[in-house]
Amino acid sequence: MTWKNNGLMLMCRFLLLLILFLPREMTSSILTVNGKTENYVLDTQIGFQESLRCAVQNHTNEEELLWYREAGTVDLKSGNKINSSSVCVSSISEDDNGVTFTCKLQRNQSVSISVVLNVIFPPLLSGDDFQTVEEGSNANLVCNVKSNPQAQMMWYKNSSILNLEKNHHQVQQTSESLQLSITNVKKSDNGTYNCIANSTWRVETKDFHLIVKDKAVVVPKEPIIAACVVIFLTLCFGLIARRKRIIKLCITDKDSQGETAL
Ligand SMILES: *[C@@H]1O[C@H](CO)[C@@H](O)[C@H](O)[C@H]1NC(C)=O
Ligand SMILES: *[C@@H]1O[C@H](CO)[C@@H](O)[C@H](O)[C@H]1NC(C)=O
Ligand SMILES: *[C@@H]1O[C@H](CO)[C@@H](O)[C@H](O)[C@H]1NC(C)=O
Ligand SMILES: *[C@@H]1O[C@H](CO)[C@@H](O)[C@H](O)[C@H]1NC(C)=O
Ligand SMILES: *[C@@H]1O[C@H](CO)[C@@H](O)[C@H](O)[C@H]1NC(C)=O
Ligand SMILES: *[C@@H]1O[C@H](CO)[C@@H](O)[C@H](O)[C@H]1NC(C)=O
Repeated sequence: MTWKNNGLMLMCRFLLLLILFLPREMTSSILTVNGKTENYVLDTQIGFQESLRCAVQNHTNEEELLWYREAGTVDLKSGNKINSSSVCVSSISEDDNGVTFTCKLQRNQSVSISVVLNVIFPPLLSGDDFQTVEEGSNANLVCNVKSNPQAQMMWYKNSSILNLEKNHHQVQQTSESLQLSITNVKKSDNGTYNCIANSTWRVETKDFHLIVKDKAVVVPKEPIIAACVVIFLTLCFGLIARRKRIIKLCITDKDSQGETAL
């Protein structure tokens, strides 16, 4: 009896396990990219080429695959869709940094695997190289930076680190730029400023020339306008007075002329 019971229980357990695991194993196709079964980050460099091969594992039927670059589908040739599919990312640029490639099962798109590109590149610096400001006004030097990994940034002047004067210099840094604001520019601020970007594998420099010109002599406007008005009025009065005399002259001229004609 006990043996029979035990046997029955074992049978039940076996059937239960079979019911639990058999259908799941049949439907749970999994995807791999370049042999990896989990989402991953792929380190690469500018100008490189990367090939990503997605394959279905443990499938019983033909499976169609889809590739996405971010949210957009990648056009695949007909022979590059069934059971496995490869995409090639060529001449990688800094714009490909952070871009996600996802391979999905066409039948059930919640089955997917993603690869994020981590494009390593040295600091790229840009900005307005020449600036001319008047003494006493404010200047703003903006050094734009693109770098992966992020670079350590600083300002140099005359080959040494810029000595920041309180209430005169102000440095602001974001992930995209390093800014130097100079308030009330002095003659001594004239010179070449170097924007230095130090990423773990390269140091890049860009020069910014600040030319401080003399303060333009400020001529007060009001007295000039007043003087002009006075001169204009004087001229007008002068003309009017003259005109009277001119007219008089003409009249006397006419009179004398008339006399001779008659
Ligand atoms: C795929 O199948 C093999 C053998 O059929 C098995 O060893 C492996 O565990 C299965 N993998 C998955 C993820 O189901
Ligand atoms: C895809 O895989 C299925 C199941 O393994 C197989 O029957 C079929 O022939 C394969 N098709 C291609 C085009 O490789
Ligand atoms: C799609 O796949 C997910 C994850 O494997 C699974 O949970 C879900 O039941 C599947 N849906 C269909 C309709 O097969
Ligand atoms: C630059 O630095 C050198 C040495 O520290 C100094 O002799 C020179 O006068 C400086 N030039 C300017 C323009 O400040
Ligand atoms: C001002 O700076 C510019 C740029 O560095 C430089 O060419 C010029 O000689 C400097 N002028 C004076 C007066 O220091
Ligand atoms: C760049 O950074 C490294 C590490 O932080 C440091 O050793 C090196 O001196 C820096 N180079 C410059 C030019 O600042």
